[in-house]
Amino acid sequence: MNEQQRKETTKIKQSNPGDKKSLKEKTSEDFAKFFETTYVAPSLKDAKKRGKEEIKVHRDFEIPEDMIGVGKDKKFYIRTYGCQMNEHDTEVMAGIFMQLGFEPTTTTDDADVILLNTCAIRENAENKVFGEIGHLKPLKQKNPDVLLGVCGCMSQEESVVNRINQKHPFVDMIFGTHNIHRLPQIIREAMFSKERVVEVWSKEGDVIENLPKVRQGNIKAWVNIMYGCDKFCTYCIVPYTRGKERSRRPEDIIQEVRQLAAQGYQEITLLGQNVNAYGKDFEDMKYGLGELMDEIRKIDIPRIRFTTSHPRDFDDRLIEVLAKGGNLVDHIHLPVQSGSSEILKLMARKYSRESYLELVRKIKEAIPNVTLTTDIIVGFPNETDEQFEETLSLVREVGFESAYTFIYSPRDGTPAAKMQDNIPMRVKKERLQRLNQLVNEQAAETMKNYIGQEVTVLVEGESKNNSEVLAGYTEKSKLVNFKGPKSAIGKIVKVKINKAKTWSLDGEMIEEVAEVN
Ligand code: 5AD
Ligand code: SF4
Repeated sequence: MNEQQRKETTKIKQSNPGDKKSLKEKTSEDFAKFFETTYVAPSLKDAKKRGKEEIKVHRDFEIPEDMIGVGKDKKFYIRTYGCQMNEHDTEVMAGIFMQLGFEPTTTTDDADVILLNTCAIRENAENKVFGEIGHLKPLKQKNPDVLLGVCGCMSQEESVVNRINQKHPFVDMIFGTHNIHRLPQIIREAMFSKERVVEVWSKEGDVIENLPKVRQGNIKAWVNIMYGCDKFCTYCIVPYTRGKERSRRPEDIIQEVRQLAAQGYQEITLLGQNVNAYGKDFEDMKYGLGELMDEIRKIDIPRIRFTTSHPRDFDDRLIEVLAKGGNLVDHIHLPVQSGSSEILKLMARKYSRESYLELVRKIKEAIPNVTLTTDIIVGFPNETDEQFEETLSLVREVGFESAYTFIYSPRDGTPAAKMQDNIPMRVKKERLQRLNQLVNEQAAETMKNYIGQEVTVLVEGESKNNSEVLAGYTEKSKLVNFKGPKSAIGKIVKVKINKAKTWSLDGEMIEEVAEVN
């Protein structure tokens, strides 16, 4: 923690804000007055600033002495919303809980500490979290000793912290994305002082390498390669909630992947909000995602993926390395957001329809069998029918095999939120429906081509709907269901496809694959 963050780290003494009103009667002004001396709110305005200070790497995380064993006979429960980055942060927090002596539990009913690791990307993501906080109120009333915490991206927004202060005073802890390594101290405050703890840093901290992790499974693993995002697309809250771009050193990443390989993991996904900017912040060397992938592909692990890509920084070196194939899967998720150059400009994506298509051409030339998937936003301010048609035509032209599609959701503090949100919801919904229909058609079309083909499937477990059936994914991320022995779980097997649905394939297992490279 640097000096500034030390100053920012403040706790709220909320149990007695110094007046006689009940919590229900207090207004936001009451809270604001009370917080003035003891509380520094997260500020999106501060979060926007990109300082030049050098990012240091720390390897000195440890559990404070007085917290060792504090979780004995206690259980923790973390509910995760949003992207893989959040899922991975949850793995780190689970690791810290375990080091404190807590055990995990799968329900809120018997948990001593409950954390909601939240997502701020769209309004409906936030509404889900507020709904859940409301559901947890009776549990808190029944058992006031349970500690309830809100962390993740939503905590980085002052509006969210204010709303929790006003409407959900039973929340015990609020902390953000930049200080999850402070979890032991935050829990200590909340446990022993019985006062609400708010500790949200507006600005990112250094990179901490030796945080513990409890991974969700033993088949696939996420490996962070960088934190933050400096792209500032006009609709997106992430550069504010996740801070500036900070890359992990290649040797740390490679060591982590090697360890995972040694532990038997079959698939690694390299994670970052904008992985193509990997290494741009290194001052001592020219080293990007291409170089990193070129080293990681030599590690003996069957599948390597990465997410998420920004087309702007997707360079020729990376394409050249991906074309080497082997354990680098031939599936690239390449968010386009819109097929209209005018809308892309309003979004500040810093590429045009033409340059995106040129990138796709280069990728297809180098990796002829590549599968491309994408993210698309419909109903961005001022999007005309014609511009939306351009998105449909781009989806056809590229031949995306699937897409995550979203209705634009204004996020407070972003430049787009100041634009007039002038597309009626009815039109947004119609556009989304038409887009989804096209994406579904293309997905179904691709799936049909698999009938009669053999695919290699990394078996993840029993199918959700039928315990008799196993389920797993191909290199191209197609879900495959088939009958097979439970011993195949965690392995890569060959399956012959006999039936295609829009989003999954059915088949028969042929054999186990010892080597895929
Ligand atoms: N509204 C709707 N969708 C959004 N996304 C990001 N911000 C917004 C927003 N304000 C989508 C983008 C991004 C994906 C993770 O979420 O498509 O790629
Ligand atoms: Fe949601 Fe983005 Fe935060 Fe991930 S980084 S949880 S997608 S807001």
